[in-house]
Amino acid sequence: MKTPSAFYKPLAIGAPDPYRELPVSLERMIHFVPPHIEKMRSKVPDLIKNVDVVLGNLEDAIPADAKTDARRGFIQMAQDNDFGTTGLWTRVNCLNSPWFLDDLLEIVPAVGEKLDVVMLPKVEGAWDIHYLDQLLAQLEARAGLSKPIMIHAILETAEGVKNVEEIAAASPRMHGMSLGPADLAASRGMKTTRVGGGHPDYAVLSDADGTGGRTASQQDLWHYTVGKMVDACLSYGLKPFYGPFGDFSDAAACESQFRNAFLMGCLGAWSLHPTQIQIAKKVFSPDPGEVAFARKILEAMPDGTGAVMIDGKMQDDATWKQAKVIVDLAKLVAS
Ligand code: GLV
Ligand code: MG
Repeated sequence: MKTPSAFYKPLAIGAPDPYRELPVSLERMIHFVPPHIEKMRSKVPDLIKNVDVVLGNLEDAIPADAKTDARRGFIQMAQDNDFGTTGLWTRVNCLNSPWFLDDLLEIVPAVGEKLDVVMLPKVEGAWDIHYLDQLLAQLEARAGLSKPIMIHAILETAEGVKNVEEIAAASPRMHGMSLGPADLAASRGMKTTRVGGGHPDYAVLSDADGTGGRTASQQDLWHYTVGKMVDACLSYGLKPFYGPFGDFSDAAACESQFRNAFLMGCLGAWSLHPTQIQIAKKVFSPDPGEVAFARKILEAMPDGTGAVMIDGKMQDDATWKQAKVIVDLAKLVAS
């Protein structure tokens, strides 16, 4: 279902399918700011120089009695700063909360022109996206905005995962999706208290060696959902993202989780702590050795067809396409 809302004109998007051509921008880390804290807002000018996207968080982690301050703080930080090419997003409260409507009613008229994306939590089906789409269309029209505000869904309920394809297809306004492993774990009844990452008990045992010894290899708890999300997103021209990694003390585990997501097709992840900005920058920018090899493939097959051997490895039309993904990303990072 790709019915564009009344306001949603192709002007900001482009041909050939105007609704599916998203702006090509680097979004390696979506950096979360709690906007009710003045000290955090004061760091935004420096953040703008250092991250791809600044997100004002209004939902979970913002105490109920600070919701109004967070909303006002977000409007303030949007008004006070020039974001240039850095993305400005907000994560609003979920649809059935007492705060969602005021989040939209206050933010769009005040700073809608600067706002790139609304991240919607706990999306369960296409109906959630349809509602936000129409509300945004009304508010945009009333405010006379010149460009549409995009929607980014968090995939963080069992029902949402079941309906991931219809969510992806729900509106031309869809920007992408992030995995929300904390809420998803709760929704699924998974037995963990972690925010993303692995679990030592989710492992596969090797066969016993001659002396009866075995080794355990930890597996990626999120593999299935990330794969499902990436396929749904790419089928509809959306961008897939890994979400949060909650153990700030374990940079190696964060890097490993982000890297799995990157290898599986994700374009970025959330950074909840300043140390995670560099991790995301490193992981979601292609490795220079990989880029050099990918360039060799493109050079060896100028028209993208045929078969050649490079360093003992067979290349053909399909690896040419793989190489192009990596080289295109490298060009975007360098631009
Ligand atoms: C993010 O919102 C999560 O629940 O993991
Ligand atoms: Mg959540």
